[in-house]
Amino acid sequence: MVVTNRELIQKMGDTVKAKTELMASWPEAEQFGENVARWRKTSDFFRGAPVCIAVLMGRYSSVADQILRARGETDAVAREIRSSRETGKSSLQSAAAAITYICLFLHYLGMGSTWMAGPLQAKREIEALLTVPPDWDLVGLIPVGYAAETPATRPRKPLQEVIQFFR
Ligand SMILES: Cc1cc2nc3c(=O)[nH]c(=O)nc-3n(C[C@H](O)[C@H](O)[C@H](O)COP(=O)(O)O)c2cc1C
Repeated sequence: MVVTNRELIQKMGDTVKAKTELMASWPEAEQFGENVARWRKTSDFFRGAPVCIAVLMGRYSSVADQILRARGETDAVAREIRSSRETGKSSLQSAAAAITYICLFLHYLGMGSTWMAGPLQAKREIEALLTVPPDWDLVGLIPVGYAAETPATRPRKPLQEVIQFFR
């Protein structure tokens, strides 16, 4: 869903900000000091973007999913398989791939974007604002605009830190 309505983007920002303020008010937040202060300033920064893409995930059910569901909760092996598959949920992987391509394509077109999962703290409220159908889930927001600055490329981790070979 592509939102260009400024008022709607502001309302989405309000719901995220409200959740941030709620969580920041909890005594459990105190130990995170400066980080909470920074988060309170940035969690709804997408409200400054002229366009906000809401990425939705459909409820895909593969043959394996259907077999496991039919097998029920009582079979321990089926339960373990279901839990393992849930961790790497293919529908979420598909949505992540879509977000990657959207961000890359926007960059190609000369626009800036940010991959945001933080706004999911107000998932229910944003879904209500966008009238998301009940069998779809909001999984991310991508604010889009022309970048105000071009930050320097950040250094990358050395390959040996992120790849493990089994030779
Ligand atoms: C799954 C995912 C979720 C993210 N969620 C947020 C977010 O909610 N807010 C945010 O400011 N950045 C978020 N980011 C980070 C930015 O989208 C972006 O990747 C990052 O700013 C890239 O720049 P950097 O790594 O050089 O800082 C997320 C990134 C990923 C991959």
